[in-house]
Amino acid sequence: MRRIIDEQGFAKSAIIEFGCGTGSVTRSFDGHEVIGLDLDERLLAKARRNCPFARFETADVCADGFELPKFTSQRAYLVSCIPVVNLGERRVVFERNLQRLFEDSRVSGFLQFTYLPKRPLNLQGKVQRRNLVLRNLPPAFIYCWEPSQGTPGEALTAEAS
Ligand SMILES: C[S@@+](CC[C@H](N)C(=O)[O-])C[C@H]1O[C@@H](n2cnc3c(N)ncnc32)[C@H](O)[C@@H]1O
Repeated sequence: MRRIIDEQGFAKSAIIEFGCGTGSVTRSFDGHEVIGLDLDERLLAKARRNCPFARFETADVCADGFELPKFTSQRAYLVSCIPVVNLGERRVVFERNLQRLFEDSRVSGFLQFTYLPKRPLNLQGKVQRRNLVLRNLPPAFIYCWEPSQGTPGEALTAEAS
């Protein structure tokens, strides 16, 4: 995921990770400004120990009206390790939240990690199946959405306090 983000020219973007758990994926984002979000405070406590460079917050990204935490002076790239197959009806709310976030000019792109060999989420925007992660068992895929307004490298006025 880190390689995709950097190759696309977003090496300076902040990364917001949904479903960061204990931080095993977050670890690879060292060097970016990172905010990890998860439902489970116990997992977040481990993530804070594993990734002292990142900030972690408790959040339900599938809740109605979910908003991005106030983040950064940079554009932000969204990354999700949430198992969308298990979301059931909450998947519709997650899709609605993501679609709304894509309208935020600070959002450069979105990556979803999945075991599904078909598109895991129904979202507008340009989408590509980017990678087959063979190191993962079972092998996994990464789907990449590009909201139309994302421009590599463009910084924004700081909003974070
Ligand atoms: C497959 S695990 C991710 C594993 C993670 N990469 C790690 O290193 O631990 C999925 C994570 O998504 C989180 N999750 C599930 N639904 C969520 C939601 N609605 N909002 C935020 N996090 C959620 C779970 O708590 C779990 O930690």
